[in-house]
Parts: sequence; structure tokens; C-alpha cells
Amino acid sequence: MLRIGMIIGSTRPGRRGEAVAKWACEIAQRRTDAEFELVDIKDFNLPLLDEPMPPMMGRYTHAHTKAWSAKVASFDGYVFVTPEYNHGTSAALKNAIDFLYNEWTNKAAGFISYGGTSGVRAVENLRLVMAELQVATVRAQVGLSMFTDFENFSVFKPVASQEQTVNTMLDQVISWASALKTLRRTDISSASA
Ligand SMILES: Cc1cc2nc3c(=O)[nH]c(=O)nc-3n(C[C@H](O)[C@H](O)[C@H](O)COP(=O)(O)O)c2cc1C
Repeated sequence: MLRIGMIIGSTRPGRRGEAVAKWACEIAQRRTDAEFELVDIKDFNLPLLDEPMPPMMGRYTHAHTKAWSAKVASFDGYVFVTPEYNHGTSAALKNAIDFLYNEWTNKAAGFISYGGTSGVRAVENLRLVMAELQVATVRAQVGLSMFTDFENFSVFKPVASQEQTVNTMLDQVISWASALKTLRRTDISSASA
């Protein structure tokens, strides 16, 4: 069974990201074509990147990096739940991404964003980052507006149509994650030949 990690991209007290990610994970867990797990980067207590060697080398020295590596490596694909901070993603999410390299590679990712303009600029920013990590990003994305999907810009109450958009995005993540799993198997066999 494919495993998809749904990553909460904000860590601040009072964050809206947790409610958004839990809502999306509940929708996802009604599906039978993959397993979904909520991943809270806050739980990993990652400092600003503190590994001496480039992540691409995978020579990690800290327990927090090893724990984060094991979690990220356990998935075939990801859904990033990102806020928009100053037209980009959060520093916490970018830092968590930067900690690793090979754990992300040749996998698929989709996005759920939120903000005044539905967080779309944060996703454009993340797509560029994903390209360098060789992650295939899907076209369908969920954009949640502070004006229409949050009551008083605060309490998360998504409009009903957003559920279908989540499923369309997940359809694409699962298709690509499935295809890329084959590529990862090929990579492993050719590396050991
Ligand atoms: C540091 C910071 C920068 C922000 N910059 C933007 C922005 O550029 N565009 C936008 O639409 N909203 C912006 N916002 C509003 C956030 O999208 C909104 O507060 C959202 O709830 C943040 O996600 P979080 O609650 O999960 O941390 C910003 C909020 C913060 C805290």
C-alpha cells in the first residue's frame, strides 16, 4: 500500500495549519488506495539546519535529523500543508525540507495552502524547491481563502467544494507516487548491479 505523509508546514502557537491538515487527513483516510499519516514537523524539534555535511550525503550526526529522515523516508509521496508567509512558504517548513535530500527524491507531492490569496504564492515557491529535490509536483492544488474558508479570518470552515479538490489532488499524488515507486526500484537494482 502506498504511504502518503501529510506534512503540517507551520509551527507557531495558534497556527491554523493544524486544523487544515487534520481536515485534509480525515478526507484522505476515507480512501482505500493509500495510507495517510499526519506529520507534524513541530514534533521533531528541528533547530535551524545544524548538520555539518550536505544533506545529499546522508551522513547525519544528530538524533533529530535521523528521526526526521526515518519519517520522511517511510513515505512514497507527500501533501504539504503550507501557510503563506511573506509570499513564500514558512521558514519552519523550508528548514525541515532542507535537512534531507535523498529521502524526498523520486517521489510525488501535492499542496494545500491557505492565506489571504489562498496561499498560492507559497505553493509556487515550494514547486521550485521540489524541482531541485527531484520531487514530481502535481497540478491540482487546494487553495483555502481566509475570506471564504475561515470564519472571521480565524475559524476554519471550508466551503463544501474544497473536499472534491482535495480528492482530485490526492488522485494525482497517488498516480504519480505509484509510478515513481517503480523508478525507485529500478534505481536500487541498477545501483547494486
Ligand atoms: C510572518 C507572516 C507572514 C504572512 N504573510 C502573508 C502573506 O504574504 N500573504 C498572505 O496572504 N498572508 C500572509 N500571512 C497571513 C497567514 O497566511 C495567516 O496568518 C495564516 O493563518 C498563517 O498560517 P498558520 O496560522 O498556520 O501559521 C502571514 C502571516 C505571518 C505570521
